[in-house]
Formats: sequence, structure tokens, C-alpha cells
Amino acid sequence: MKEGIQSVLYSKEQLAQKVRQLGQEISRDYAGKNPLLVSVLKGSVVFMSDLMRAIDIPCQIDFMMVSSYGSGVKTSGVVKIMKDLDTPLEGRDLIIVEDILDSGKTLHYLKGMLTERRPKSVRIATLLDKPDRREAPVSADYCGFVVPDQFIVGYGLDYAEKYRNLPYIGVLKPDIYTK
Ligand code: IMP
Ligand code: MG
Repeated sequence: MKEGIQSVLYSKEQLAQKVRQLGQEISRDYAGKNPLLVSVLKGSVVFMSDLMRAIDIPCQIDFMMVSSYGSGVKTSGVVKIMKDLDTPLEGRDLIIVEDILDSGKTLHYLKGMLTERRPKSVRIATLLDKPDRREAPVSADYCGFVVPDQFIVGYGLDYAEKYRNLPYIGVLKPDIYTK
């Protein structure tokens, strides 16, 4: 096991299977449409790149970057747009792609902001959901796994910008972030 990782929560194979399922669901639901997938950088980039290849209908992608966490483990509540979309949203079927829905503050803010640009529809696809930690009224339309309240890393998720490149999702040893 990689240093700092307490246990593996989802293996590479489990992730691949789940992402394939989500891709099929989205392909079915959006048949005949051309949804715009918006990945929230950086955490969702691995999920996004696998998910888009599991979607077999026409779709487009764009990226957005917001900061809410700094390098810690708790949301600050402040959401700042670091990079905005290049694509106009009016009339589009928008799917916001996130790595993890935690307090929900980030997505609640983002969804509200993007809805003001008058897309035809807005849905949220998140790989992971921690419902026990929710503070803002937001829920996912597509969700990979519901996870316990533990700090997890890998498959795009970081702690202080580390561990994003792990091919699996693991639980971070608490002594790493309480030090
Ligand atoms: P929220 O605004 O609290 O829902 O925060 C969502 C963001 O917090 C995610 O996009 C992640 O970047 C980060 N985050 C929340 N929980 C975790 C975790 O367990 N591991 C790594 N990042 C997390
Ligand atoms: Mg992060």
C-alpha cells in the first residue's frame, strides 16, 4: 500500500465498472441530445476522462475551476471562480461533473451560477457522495458511490495536491491531516 493510505475503498476495477454504468445511463437519458459535460477542476478530471469515453452519444466538454478548499480538508464556504467556461450555456443540456459532493457548498453555488446562464437543463453527475456532511441543499442526479465520512484520495482526489494519480480510491490515514 502506498504511504499515507490506510485502506483501499474502491479498486481500479470497481471504479471502471461503475463509470461504465453511469456512462450508459447518461447515454440513455440524453439520447438524441448533445449534452455539455462540465468538469470541475481539478478533482473530477480523472472521472471526466473515463466518463466521457463511456458515453456513446454525441457530447461536448468544457472545464471550470473553482477554489473552495485551499489545501486543507474542510470547506471554507467561499467559492471563487478561477477559470470560467468557454462555451455559452444558453439552450444547452448541461451536466456538471464532480469528483465528490461533500458539504455541497461548491456545487450549490456553481449550479445556481450556471443556471443563471439559461441552459435548457442542468444535472449533476458525481462519482462520490458523502450525504452525512451535507450543509447546502443540493443533490446528485447521477452518483457512483455513497461514501462514509472519511477523507479519501486517489482517482483525481487530492490531499494538499497529492495522491491524485492513484488509480484506486483510498482512505487517507488521519495522522496525515491532523499532524
Ligand atoms: P463541498 O463544497 O464541501 O461539497 O466540497 C467539494 C470539494 O471538496 C470536492 O470537489 C473536493 O475537491 C473536496 N473534497 C471533499 N471531500 C473530499 C475528500 O474526502 N477527499 C478529497 N477531496 C474532498
Ligand atoms: Mg480538492
